[in-house]
Amino acid sequence: MGIIIDGNKIAQEIRDSIRIEAATLKENKGIIPGLAVIMVGEDPASKVYVARKAKACMEAGFLSRQHKLPADTTEASLLQLINELNADSLIHGILVQLPLPKHISTDRVIAAIDPRKDVDGFHPYNIGSLLTGSPLFVPCTPRGIMEIISRTGISLPGKEAVVVGRSNIVGKPMALLLLAQHATVTICHSKTKDLAAVTSRADILIAAVGKPQMINADMVKKGAVVIDVGVNRLDNDKLVGDVAFAEVAKKASYITPVPGGVGPMTIAMLMKNTLDAATQLP
Ligand code: GUN
Repeated sequence: MGIIIDGNKIAQEIRDSIRIEAATLKENKGIIPGLAVIMVGEDPASKVYVARKAKACMEAGFLSRQHKLPADTTEASLLQLINELNADSLIHGILVQLPLPKHISTDRVIAAIDPRKDVDGFHPYNIGSLLTGSPLFVPCTPRGIMEIISRTGISLPGKEAVVVGRSNIVGKPMALLLLAQHATVTICHSKTKDLAAVTSRADILIAAVGKPQMINADMVKKGAVVIDVGVNRLDNDKLVGDVAFAEVAKKASYITPVPGGVGPMTIAMLMKNTLDAATQLP
């Protein structure tokens, strides 16, 4: 039976030290880290995430501003708000909760954020710099996963890492971070032939597809580190990951549960990115 990684515990440790660092920053330099979160429309999952981000800010002693805009908000007025926040010296981080309504271009909105305030790490400047190795900000979920992996004590150089899923938010940045740590990285997706043959090679397996329990024990090498990014709600309202947890846990050396694995790390890393932004911005 593999070790179940307690994401809640790791995230809480990180948030505790961020609270102390934020207090020191306030005392020494009079700076209070400020995060603005913009949500357009009423996506139920987004509402939950935005509320959690605001609570995390409060607990860390950050300034938290929430902009909840109606679903019919125009792209022009959203861009205008971003411009105002770019110029606002009390705000160090700007996060636009995704997904956006269909009439708004996500690409144009993300590109409008000052890269120095892009605490999501989604701006083309930061994604491009991730490719070359020196981003201002790394996307929160992949950054949290790197933190989890480093705490397992497993060294990455030369290891086979397989990322299932190629989203801009998780799969692609995850692969780049693993590559930067000298893993041999494969990205799989819906068109991959014989997925099980590829995933079975993985020393580190990251599942980020959004398909409930699709990674089963036959697809996992004995002793693999298995990281589950999926958050899927079943018809019976139960929350499950992309990994069939019970059977895969028997083969893995380490595994993250859902809930309580990767999820809490994402918010902890958002706080870290915001603290970094407040420390770095002139
Ligand atoms: N929607 C789902 N995950 C994320 C995230 O990490 N950041 C933002 N802005 N929106 C999301």
